[in-house]
Amino acid sequence: MKDIKKTKTKAPVEPFKIKMVEIVNLPNQEQRTKAIEKAGYNTFLLNSDEVYIDLLTDSGTSAMSDNQWAGLMLGDEAYAGSKNFYNLEKSIQDVLGYKYVVPTHQGRGAEHLISAVLIEPKKNLVVVPRNMYFTTSKIHVEIQGGVMPDVIIDEAHDPENEHPFKGNVDLKKLKDVIEKVGAKKIPYVNVEMNVNMAGGQPVSMENLRQVRELCDSYNLKVVFDATRSSENAYFIQEREEGYSNKSIKEILNEMMSYSDACIYSAKKDGLVNIGGFLAANDEEIYEKARNLVVVYEGLHTYGGMAGRDMEALARGLREGADDRYLEYRIKQVRYLGEMLTNYGVPIVKPIGGHGVFLDALKFFPEMPRDQWPSQTLAASIYEESAIRTMERGAVSKGRDHKTGENIFPKLELVRITIPRRVYTNTQMEYVADSIIKIFEKREQIKGLKMVYEPEDLRFFQAKFEKI
Ligand code: F0G
Repeated sequence: MKDIKKTKTKAPVEPFKIKMVEIVNLPNQEQRTKAIEKAGYNTFLLNSDEVYIDLLTDSGTSAMSDNQWAGLMLGDEAYAGSKNFYNLEKSIQDVLGYKYVVPTHQGRGAEHLISAVLIEPKKNLVVVPRNMYFTTSKIHVEIQGGVMPDVIIDEAHDPENEHPFKGNVDLKKLKDVIEKVGAKKIPYVNVEMNVNMAGGQPVSMENLRQVRELCDSYNLKVVFDATRSSENAYFIQEREEGYSNKSIKEILNEMMSYSDACIYSAKKDGLVNIGGFLAANDEEIYEKARNLVVVYEGLHTYGGMAGRDMEALARGLREGADDRYLEYRIKQVRYLGEMLTNYGVPIVKPIGGHGVFLDALKFFPEMPRDQWPSQTLAASIYEESAIRTMERGAVSKGRDHKTGENIFPKLELVRITIPRRVYTNTQMEYVADSIIKIFEKREQIKGLKMVYEPEDLRFFQAKFEKI
């Protein structure tokens, strides 16, 4: 292996010890070449046992602690009023500061509830502005007959721009949308923490406060997608004036105080493999959600979750908002990112919260866009090293519904998402080393042609061949 630690980049010290391990297999070159060909050069179509290090997503892939596993044994599987629900409610009140809690089976269950509660279906076209869309958030608004325009600051679209809070809402863009369509057509304004599609980029406390003030002046509700809010709170503690001496929990409580409600996928910062919830300070939202959850998820004291899973989440939420843990977490992602930039590998900057995003257009500057640079790069990474990453570029973006043409977005990325408390820093070095090797021979790598394309969400199932 190269001396990839050549600068002052330091691996963070883990605030845990390992009590149980899962043996992973590293397929040889021949097996990798065969597997990726069989998968049509689409990493979604690989089997997980063909993968050595799985960086497809940070969702539902965390390692639980002994404290969480012990909590599973205390699962009180009652249909109504399980004690684990009350523990979960207390944990959310304490860590995030919301009054009311409605559990759901995962994040999109809560997205379904909030859009159904706040949008009057198909009456008039409604608009839900959001700093930047996420696939499932957007589709739930569209199902109710709405649209979701992005109102994120321009800096978010530039991989080189080092703005410390690249997830911020552009207040002028938001105001323009409100003025243009009228506040009556806006059931709520949606703000995502540590914006996933922008590369895990945080929102500042000042920006949250300003969004609240602007929305108050139009009497608009504010709903957060607080899925990665603990990681966002770490960046506020690290970068925003006045917060370096506050605990993550104090910061989270202040952040959430600027909203009426939030949706939460617990599969990320909640450190569990499944689960989610809607939390609110607004009593009306809570009442409506509590009535609706019974129809779609389960009674309001379990909402699709087993008692044991609520207990694991009650504990995971606290562990995921621990100051020491978060420092290790964010610094592990940064460790990987810095090893890559030390060798000139182009990535989205600053390095975000849940992963490192490779800039495929800079990686393969000569490759035509319709030879799918991000897809090619993700497939090459697997073939080189059995590491699984995800395409986030033109294949994910799809075609224009009206013209049928491919859309080629500004950002053509490969997402290297880091599961929480799962891989060691040495494994991060293996990842960096493998990607640097590909970077060094990037001129020999040929693009792909798409040979099978499903109509919707094509990135999951599309197949390709080498050119
Ligand atoms: N909101 C955000 C910001 C997300 O990243 C996700 C899921 C959801 C909501 C939906 O939550 O999966 O629990 O239903 N993101 C995953 C990912 C799928 O890989 O980024 P869910």
